[in-house]
Amino acid sequence: VVEMRTVVDLTRCQGYAQCVFLAPEVFELHGEEGLLYTTAVPDDQVERVRQAAAACPVQAILLGEE
Ligand code: F3S
Repeated sequence: VVEMRTVVDLTRCQGYAQCVFLAPEVFELHGEEGLLYTTAVPDDQVERVRQAAAACPVQAILLGEE
């Protein structure tokens, strides 16, 4: 089992919300500034998270695997 964590670099995130669209169970917009939170990723969400990271226009989503 791969434990994956995502970190959204809030200094880069511009609120494009591609991540929320692709993986709504993992990413969430908070308030008007479009901030996201970091979370551990359930196994069944890993592929979605990879797609979200690839889709982010400013590469704000960092994937950590341990
Ligand atoms: Fe931000 Fe990228 Fe998502 S800009 S809202 S992390 S698609």
